[in-house]
Amino acid sequence: MKPDLVVTTKIFAPTQERLDREFACHKLHQAADRAALLKKLAPSVRALATFGAGGADAKLMDALPKLEIISNFGVGVDSIDLDAARKRGIIVTNTPDVLNDCVADTAMALTVNVMRKFPQAEGYLRAGHWAAKGAYPLTTSLGGKTMGILGLGRIGEAIAQRAQAFGMKIRYHNRRKKDVDYPYDADPVALAKNADVLMIVTPGGAATDKLVNAKVLDALGPEGYLVNIARGSVVDEPVLLKYLQEKKIAGAGLDVFADEPRVPPEFFKLDNAVLLPHVGSATVETRTAMGNLQVDNLLAHFAGKPVLTRVV
Ligand code: 8YV
Repeated sequence: MKPDLVVTTKIFAPTQERLDREFACHKLHQAADRAALLKKLAPSVRALATFGAGGADAKLMDALPKLEIISNFGVGVDSIDLDAARKRGIIVTNTPDVLNDCVADTAMALTVNVMRKFPQAEGYLRAGHWAAKGAYPLTTSLGGKTMGILGLGRIGEAIAQRAQAFGMKIRYHNRRKKDVDYPYDADPVALAKNADVLMIVTPGGAATDKLVNAKVLDALGPEGYLVNIARGSVVDEPVLLKYLQEKKIAGAGLDVFADEPRVPPEFFKLDNAVLLPHVGSATVETRTAMGNLQVDNLLAHFAGKPVLTRVV
């Protein structure tokens, strides 16, 4: 008999197909009566699969007292109550590493596009302005500029390699200094001051909530660019909007927002922002690898083996 598994949200179809082959999946997001479904599953369900913002809170864990493992699709586990899982002895897994390259590619694409204004230049051509008004205005080079990486983990390292290939210099800030050759700044303000591009790669959650605030943006200054491929929560979004509107920073490349998928419409009017709908890891290859890791963690647990990528 296949073990029961609760799925919290709609997930990548091939991953759902693999889960369906291995488990008796109960889709919480499709349940007409969520509480009734949880009550029915409470005596048996040992595993839960979640995806990004779907998360898992203490209430959900309490509704499933036999829960042993929460397997997340995604490296970020900020929407899972990790303390609650820890207290209940529930294992939490994520999908690190397999997405490093794609997320780093997205980070560089945002950097290039916000500095070189390629989306705007393309819009200029498509609108027929090239022939009518002449050349598109000059933009800003990447080569020789400094990227300040806020959160030099595995994704941050992949971004650093790419940025160096573009001729950029790298600095970083982490809570703890790492054994790397890049210059270290003691806090986000110092990093922003020393950087032309501030690249946010920190995890989300309470520890980094609004870490990038007015003080950090002031330090980045009117020539500085902000790129965020991490979590919208890391930035004080209303302040960022104001700074972009008032040109107190040069521009922003954003793949993530505070209340996804809702983006304050004032952002759409900005000429100095490049906006993406959280597509950092969104390729067929990477999402397949993420889904496989999510399922492999569940299978390892049910085979009585250690999971592959444990967070808690
Ligand atoms: C995904 C991400 O978009 O891995 C993460 O933490 O933010 C992205 O790769 C997300 O997991 C899908 O919800």
